[in-house]
Amino acid sequence: MEETRVVNPEPLIGEQYDQSLRPSLIRDYIGQTEIKENMQVFIEAAKLRRQALDHVLLSGPPGLGKTTLANILAQEMGVPIHPTSGPVIERQGDLAAILTNLEPGSILFIDEIHRMNRVVEEVLYSAMEDFTLDIMIGQGPAARTVKLDLAHFTLVGATTRAGLLSNPLRDRFGIQARLNFYEPEELKIIVLRSAAILQIEITEEAALELSKCARGTPRIANRLLRRCRDFADIETSGVITETLVKNSLKRLGIDTKGLDQMDRLILEVIIDKFDGGPVGLSTLSAAVSEEQDTLEDVYEPYLLLIGFLQRTPRGRIATSNAYEHLGFRVNSASEQMKLL
Ligand code: ADE
Repeated sequence: MEETRVVNPEPLIGEQYDQSLRPSLIRDYIGQTEIKENMQVFIEAAKLRRQALDHVLLSGPPGLGKTTLANILAQEMGVPIHPTSGPVIERQGDLAAILTNLEPGSILFIDEIHRMNRVVEEVLYSAMEDFTLDIMIGQGPAARTVKLDLAHFTLVGATTRAGLLSNPLRDRFGIQARLNFYEPEELKIIVLRSAAILQIEITEEAALELSKCARGTPRIANRLLRRCRDFADIETSGVITETLVKNSLKRLGIDTKGLDQMDRLILEVIIDKFDGGPVGLSTLSAAVSEEQDTLEDVYEPYLLLIGFLQRTPRGRIATSNAYEHLGFRVNSASEQMKLL
Protein backbone atom coordinates (compact mmCIF):
# COMPACT_ATOMS: atom_id res chain seq x y z
CA MET A 1 0.00 0.00 0.00
CA GLU A 2 1.18 3.51 -0.78
CA GLU A 3 2.25 5.52 2.22
CA THR A 4 0.20 8.55 3.14
CA ARG A 5 1.89 11.83 2.33
CA VAL A 6 1.33 15.09 4.13
CA VAL A 7 1.58 17.92 1.63
CA ASN A 8 2.36 21.48 2.72
CA PRO A 9 0.33 21.55 5.92
CA GLU A 10 -1.59 24.81 5.90
CA PRO A 11 -4.34 26.23 8.09
CA LEU A 12 -7.78 25.18 6.90
CA ILE A 13 -9.04 28.28 5.18
CA GLY A 14 -11.62 28.41 2.43
CA GLU A 15 -10.62 29.59 -1.02
CA GLN A 16 -12.83 32.61 -0.69
CA TYR A 17 -10.24 33.96 1.72
CA ASP A 18 -7.81 34.60 -1.06
CA GLN A 19 -7.26 38.17 0.07
CA SER A 20 -3.54 37.48 0.18
CA LEU A 21 -3.52 36.87 -3.57
CA ARG A 22 -4.92 40.31 -4.19
CA PRO A 23 -2.22 42.95 -4.65
CA SER A 24 -2.65 45.87 -2.27
CA LEU A 25 -0.51 48.39 -4.12
CA ILE A 26 -0.89 49.66 -7.65
CA ARG A 27 2.68 48.69 -8.56
CA ASP A 28 1.84 45.03 -7.84
CA TYR A 29 -1.31 45.14 -9.94
CA ILE A 30 -0.62 43.49 -13.27
CA GLY A 31 -2.22 44.53 -16.56
CA GLN A 32 -4.91 47.20 -17.19
CA THR A 33 -1.98 49.50 -17.92
CA GLU A 34 -3.92 52.52 -19.14
CA ILE A 35 -6.29 52.48 -16.16
CA LYS A 36 -3.37 52.06 -13.76
CA GLU A 37 -1.38 54.93 -15.25
CA ASN A 38 -4.36 57.28 -15.21
CA MET A 39 -5.31 56.28 -11.68
CA GLN A 40 -1.80 57.00 -10.47
CA VAL A 41 -2.12 60.55 -11.78
CA PHE A 42 -5.58 61.06 -10.27
CA ILE A 43 -4.43 59.70 -6.91
CA GLU A 44 -1.33 61.89 -6.86
CA ALA A 45 -3.31 64.98 -7.88
CA ALA A 46 -5.96 64.40 -5.21
CA LYS A 47 -3.29 63.89 -2.57
CA LEU A 48 -1.42 67.01 -3.68
CA ARG A 49 -4.57 69.08 -3.33
CA ARG A 50 -5.49 67.28 -0.11
CA GLN A 51 -8.86 66.42 -1.58
CA ALA A 52 -10.89 63.26 -1.71
CA LEU A 53 -10.43 61.33 -4.95
CA ASP A 54 -13.24 61.99 -7.43
CA HIS A 55 -15.94 59.30 -7.64
CA VAL A 56 -14.82 56.23 -9.57
CA LEU A 57 -16.92 53.81 -11.63
CA LEU A 58 -15.23 50.49 -12.39
CA SER A 59 -16.96 48.31 -14.94
CA GLY A 60 -16.21 45.02 -16.65
CA PRO A 61 -16.89 41.29 -16.52
CA PRO A 62 -16.60 39.43 -13.19
CA GLY A 63 -13.19 38.38 -11.89
CA LEU A 64 -11.10 41.06 -13.59
CA GLY A 65 -10.11 42.87 -10.39
CA LYS A 66 -12.66 45.62 -9.74
CA THR A 67 -12.78 44.96 -6.00
CA THR A 68 -9.01 44.60 -5.91
CA LEU A 69 -8.64 47.97 -7.60
CA ALA A 70 -11.07 49.61 -5.16
CA ASN A 71 -9.00 48.35 -2.24
CA ILE A 72 -5.82 49.55 -3.91
CA LEU A 73 -7.32 53.03 -4.31
CA ALA A 74 -7.99 53.14 -0.57
CA GLN A 75 -4.51 51.88 0.24
CA GLU A 76 -2.82 54.34 -2.10
CA MET A 77 -4.92 57.26 -0.84
CA GLY A 78 -4.31 56.16 2.74
CA VAL A 79 -8.01 56.21 3.59
CA PRO A 80 -10.48 53.70 5.05
CA ILE A 81 -12.76 51.76 2.72
CA HIS A 82 -16.33 50.80 3.55
CA PRO A 83 -17.54 47.97 1.32
CA THR A 84 -21.18 47.23 0.61
CA SER A 85 -23.20 46.11 -2.37
CA GLY A 86 -26.15 47.46 -4.36
CA PRO A 87 -28.76 44.80 -3.56
CA VAL A 88 -28.18 44.87 0.22
CA ILE A 89 -29.02 48.58 0.51
CA GLU A 90 -32.78 48.19 0.60
CA ARG A 91 -34.04 51.53 1.84
CA GLN A 92 -33.03 55.18 1.55
CA GLY A 93 -32.49 55.19 5.31
CA ASP A 94 -29.89 52.40 5.05
CA LEU A 95 -27.85 54.44 2.60
CA ALA A 96 -28.30 57.64 4.63
CA ALA A 97 -26.93 55.82 7.69
CA ILE A 98 -23.88 54.65 5.74
CA LEU A 99 -23.24 58.08 4.22
CA THR A 100 -23.50 60.01 7.49
CA ASN A 101 -20.92 57.72 9.08
CA LEU A 102 -18.21 58.23 6.46
CA GLU A 103 -14.93 59.85 7.48
CA PRO A 104 -13.57 62.69 5.30
CA GLY A 105 -11.72 61.30 2.30
CA SER A 106 -12.88 57.73 2.91
CA ILE A 107 -14.07 55.40 0.20
CA LEU A 108 -17.56 53.96 0.01
CA PHE A 109 -17.33 50.90 -2.22
CA ILE A 110 -20.64 49.75 -3.69
CA ASP A 111 -20.27 46.48 -5.57
CA GLU A 112 -22.94 45.55 -8.14
CA ILE A 113 -24.08 49.15 -8.09
CA HIS A 114 -26.36 48.50 -11.09
CA ARG A 115 -28.54 46.35 -8.83
CA MET A 116 -29.28 49.17 -6.42
CA ASN A 117 -32.92 50.14 -6.06
CA ARG A 118 -33.72 53.26 -8.15
CA VAL A 119 -35.43 55.02 -5.25
CA VAL A 120 -32.44 54.39 -2.99
CA GLU A 121 -30.11 55.50 -5.75
CA GLU A 122 -31.63 58.99 -5.76
CA VAL A 123 -30.07 59.65 -2.35
CA LEU A 124 -26.69 59.37 -4.03
CA TYR A 125 -27.25 62.24 -6.46
CA SER A 126 -26.87 65.12 -3.99
CA ALA A 127 -24.45 63.10 -1.85
CA MET A 128 -22.10 62.67 -4.81
CA GLU A 129 -22.59 66.11 -6.29
CA ASP A 130 -22.38 68.45 -3.32
CA PHE A 131 -21.94 66.13 -0.34
CA THR A 132 -25.36 66.84 1.14
CA LEU A 133 -28.23 64.65 2.14
CA ASP A 134 -31.89 65.69 2.13
CA ILE A 135 -33.69 63.97 4.96
CA MET A 136 -37.46 63.96 5.39
CA ILE A 137 -38.57 64.55 8.95
CA GLY A 138 -42.14 63.71 9.94
CA GLN A 139 -45.07 62.78 7.75
CA GLY A 140 -48.04 64.48 6.12
CA PRO A 141 -48.47 68.27 6.09
CA ALA A 142 -45.98 68.76 8.92
CA ALA A 143 -43.23 66.94 7.05
CA ARG A 144 -40.16 68.96 6.17
CA THR A 145 -36.76 68.26 4.74
CA VAL A 146 -33.48 68.94 6.44
CA LYS A 147 -30.22 69.24 4.55
CA LEU A 148 -27.32 67.45 6.17
CA ASP A 149 -23.71 68.05 5.25
CA LEU A 150 -21.66 64.95 4.56
CA ALA A 151 -17.92 64.41 4.71
CA HIS A 152 -16.22 64.70 1.33
CA PHE A 153 -16.00 61.03 0.45
CA THR A 154 -15.22 59.00 -2.67
CA LEU A 155 -17.82 56.67 -4.07
CA VAL A 156 -16.27 53.73 -5.89
CA GLY A 157 -18.93 51.80 -7.77
CA ALA A 158 -18.32 48.45 -9.43
CA THR A 159 -20.57 46.96 -12.06
CA THR A 160 -20.53 44.19 -14.60
CA ARG A 161 -22.94 46.24 -16.71
CA ALA A 162 -22.27 49.98 -16.90
CA GLY A 163 -25.09 50.19 -19.43
CA LEU A 164 -27.66 49.33 -16.78
CA LEU A 165 -26.81 52.35 -14.63
CA SER A 166 -29.20 55.27 -14.87
CA ASN A 167 -27.73 58.27 -16.69
CA PRO A 168 -27.90 60.63 -13.68
CA LEU A 169 -25.90 58.16 -11.59
CA ARG A 170 -23.34 57.32 -14.26
CA ASP A 171 -22.76 61.00 -15.08
CA ARG A 172 -21.82 61.74 -11.49
CA PHE A 173 -18.72 59.54 -11.62
CA GLY A 174 -15.79 61.81 -12.52
CA ILE A 175 -13.56 58.81 -13.25
CA GLN A 176 -14.90 55.96 -15.33
CA ALA A 177 -12.73 52.93 -16.05
CA ARG A 178 -13.66 49.88 -18.06
CA LEU A 179 -11.55 46.82 -17.24
CA ASN A 180 -10.61 44.59 -20.15
CA PHE A 181 -9.85 40.89 -20.32
CA TYR A 182 -6.18 40.10 -19.68
CA GLU A 183 -3.69 38.79 -22.24
CA PRO A 184 -2.25 35.30 -21.55
CA GLU A 185 1.19 36.88 -20.94
CA GLU A 186 -0.30 39.13 -18.24
CA LEU A 187 -2.19 36.24 -16.66
CA LYS A 188 1.02 34.25 -16.66
CA ILE A 189 2.68 36.87 -14.45
CA ILE A 190 -0.34 36.82 -12.14
CA VAL A 191 -0.22 33.00 -11.97
CA LEU A 192 3.50 32.98 -11.19
CA ARG A 193 2.94 35.62 -8.51
CA SER A 194 0.07 33.64 -6.97
CA ALA A 195 2.12 30.43 -7.12
CA ALA A 196 4.95 32.13 -5.25
CA ILE A 197 2.56 33.40 -2.55
CA LEU A 198 0.91 29.98 -2.18
CA GLN A 199 4.27 28.20 -2.38
CA ILE A 200 3.27 26.21 -5.43
CA GLU A 201 5.95 24.95 -7.81
CA ILE A 202 5.02 25.63 -11.42
CA THR A 203 7.06 25.89 -14.61
CA GLU A 204 6.87 28.97 -16.87
CA GLU A 205 5.45 26.86 -19.70
CA ALA A 206 2.77 25.47 -17.40
CA ALA A 207 1.87 28.95 -16.18
CA LEU A 208 1.42 30.13 -19.78
CA GLU A 209 -0.60 27.07 -20.75
CA LEU A 210 -2.91 27.60 -17.78
CA SER A 211 -3.20 31.31 -18.60
CA LYS A 212 -4.30 30.59 -22.16
CA CYS A 213 -7.25 28.64 -20.79
CA ALA A 214 -8.32 31.14 -18.12
CA ARG A 215 -10.70 33.20 -20.28
CA GLY A 216 -8.65 36.34 -19.78
CA THR A 217 -9.69 36.39 -16.11
CA PRO A 218 -7.34 36.42 -13.08
CA ARG A 219 -9.96 34.86 -10.80
CA ILE A 220 -10.27 31.89 -13.15
CA ALA A 221 -6.49 31.63 -13.54
CA ASN A 222 -6.07 31.50 -9.76
CA ARG A 223 -8.82 28.92 -9.47
CA LEU A 224 -7.25 26.70 -12.13
CA LEU A 225 -3.89 27.08 -10.42
CA ARG A 226 -5.33 25.65 -7.20
CA ARG A 227 -7.00 22.76 -9.01
CA CYS A 228 -3.79 21.94 -10.86
CA ARG A 229 -2.00 21.99 -7.51
CA ASP A 230 -4.50 19.42 -6.25
CA PHE A 231 -3.73 17.10 -9.16
CA ALA A 232 0.00 17.72 -8.82
CA ASP A 233 0.07 17.09 -5.08
CA ILE A 234 -2.01 13.94 -5.15
CA GLU A 235 -1.02 12.31 -8.42
CA THR A 236 2.46 13.54 -9.31
CA SER A 237 5.57 15.04 -7.76
CA GLY A 238 3.80 18.22 -6.70
CA VAL A 239 5.33 20.32 -9.48
CA ILE A 240 2.88 21.78 -11.98
CA THR A 241 4.20 21.07 -15.47
CA GLU A 242 2.72 21.84 -18.89
CA THR A 243 1.60 18.22 -19.28
CA LEU A 244 -0.01 18.28 -15.88
CA VAL A 245 -1.90 21.47 -16.74
CA LYS A 246 -3.16 19.95 -20.00
CA ASN A 247 -4.32 16.77 -18.27
CA SER A 248 -5.88 18.62 -15.35
CA LEU A 249 -7.82 21.01 -17.58
CA LYS A 250 -9.10 18.10 -19.62
CA ARG A 251 -10.35 16.44 -16.47
CA LEU A 252 -11.97 19.69 -15.39
CA GLY A 253 -13.89 19.82 -18.67
CA ILE A 254 -12.02 22.88 -19.90
CA ASP A 255 -10.99 22.86 -23.54
CA THR A 256 -8.07 24.42 -25.42
CA LYS A 257 -9.88 27.76 -25.75
CA GLY A 258 -10.64 27.78 -22.04
CA LEU A 259 -14.33 27.07 -22.60
CA ASP A 260 -16.11 25.13 -19.88
CA GLN A 261 -19.16 22.89 -20.17
CA MET A 262 -21.60 25.77 -19.93
CA ASP A 263 -19.83 27.82 -22.61
CA ARG A 264 -19.99 24.84 -24.93
CA LEU A 265 -23.59 24.06 -24.06
CA ILE A 266 -24.63 27.62 -24.93
CA LEU A 267 -22.96 27.40 -28.34
CA GLU A 268 -24.17 23.85 -29.00
CA VAL A 269 -27.75 24.80 -28.19
CA ILE A 270 -27.62 27.80 -30.55
CA ILE A 271 -26.14 25.64 -33.31
CA ASP A 272 -28.11 22.47 -32.76
CA LYS A 273 -31.51 23.66 -31.60
CA PHE A 274 -31.73 27.04 -33.28
CA ASP A 275 -29.86 26.47 -36.53
CA GLY A 276 -27.05 28.74 -35.41
CA GLY A 277 -29.37 31.58 -34.41
CA PRO A 278 -30.41 34.27 -34.14
CA VAL A 279 -32.02 33.26 -30.87
CA GLY A 280 -33.40 35.66 -28.27
CA LEU A 281 -31.82 35.84 -24.81
CA SER A 282 -34.92 34.64 -22.94
CA THR A 283 -35.31 31.63 -25.25
CA LEU A 284 -31.64 30.77 -24.89
CA SER A 285 -31.82 31.20 -21.13
CA ALA A 286 -34.70 28.70 -20.92
CA ALA A 287 -32.95 26.26 -23.26
CA VAL A 288 -29.75 26.11 -21.21
CA SER A 289 -31.45 26.58 -17.78
CA GLU A 290 -29.37 29.56 -16.83
CA GLU A 291 -30.38 33.06 -15.66
CA GLN A 292 -30.38 35.74 -18.37
CA ASP A 293 -28.20 38.00 -16.21
CA THR A 294 -25.63 35.24 -15.76
CA LEU A 295 -25.57 34.56 -19.49
CA GLU A 296 -25.03 38.24 -20.22
CA ASP A 297 -22.56 38.99 -17.42
CA VAL A 298 -20.56 35.79 -17.08
CA TYR A 299 -20.63 33.77 -20.29
CA GLU A 300 -21.26 36.06 -23.23
CA PRO A 301 -18.47 38.63 -22.83
CA TYR A 302 -15.70 36.09 -23.41
CA LEU A 303 -17.54 34.29 -26.22
CA LEU A 304 -18.00 37.67 -27.89
CA LEU A 305 -14.33 38.53 -27.37
CA ILE A 306 -13.03 35.38 -29.01
CA GLY A 307 -15.51 35.77 -31.84
CA PHE A 308 -17.62 32.67 -31.16
CA LEU A 309 -20.81 34.60 -30.59
CA GLN A 310 -22.47 37.62 -32.13
CA ARG A 311 -25.18 39.80 -30.66
CA THR A 312 -27.61 41.14 -33.21
CA PRO A 313 -30.90 43.02 -32.77
CA ARG A 314 -32.70 39.75 -33.55
CA GLY A 315 -30.72 37.66 -31.06
CA ARG A 316 -27.54 35.65 -30.54
CA ILE A 317 -25.73 33.96 -33.42
CA ALA A 318 -23.01 31.32 -33.26
CA THR A 319 -20.17 32.22 -35.64
CA SER A 320 -18.39 29.88 -38.05
CA ASN A 321 -15.42 29.88 -35.63
CA ALA A 322 -17.69 28.39 -32.98
CA TYR A 323 -18.91 25.74 -35.43
CA GLU A 324 -15.34 24.80 -36.28
CA HIS A 325 -14.15 24.69 -32.68
CA LEU A 326 -17.02 22.46 -31.60
CA GLY A 327 -16.73 20.17 -34.62
CA PHE A 328 -19.84 21.25 -36.49
CA ARG A 329 -19.91 21.84 -40.23
CA VAL A 330 -21.35 25.10 -41.50
CA ASN A 331 -23.84 24.18 -44.18
CA SER A 332 -24.86 26.80 -46.72
CA ALA A 333 -28.50 25.82 -46.44
CA SER A 334 -28.24 26.40 -42.67
CA GLU A 335 -28.51 22.64 -42.15
CA GLN A 336 -25.73 21.89 -39.75
CA MET A 337 -24.42 18.38 -39.55
CA LYS A 338 -22.25 17.25 -36.77
CA LEU A 339 -18.96 16.02 -38.17
CA LEU A 340 -18.20 13.49 -35.50
N1 ADE B 1 -4.81 39.07 -8.76
C1 ADE B 1 -5.99 39.31 -9.32
N2 ADE B 1 -5.90 40.31 -10.23
C2 ADE B 1 -4.62 40.70 -10.23
C3 ADE B 1 -3.89 41.67 -10.96
N3 ADE B 1 -4.47 42.43 -11.88
N4 ADE B 1 -2.60 41.80 -10.70
C4 ADE B 1 -2.02 41.02 -9.79
N5 ADE B 1 -2.64 40.09 -9.09
C5 ADE B 1 -3.93 39.92 -9.30
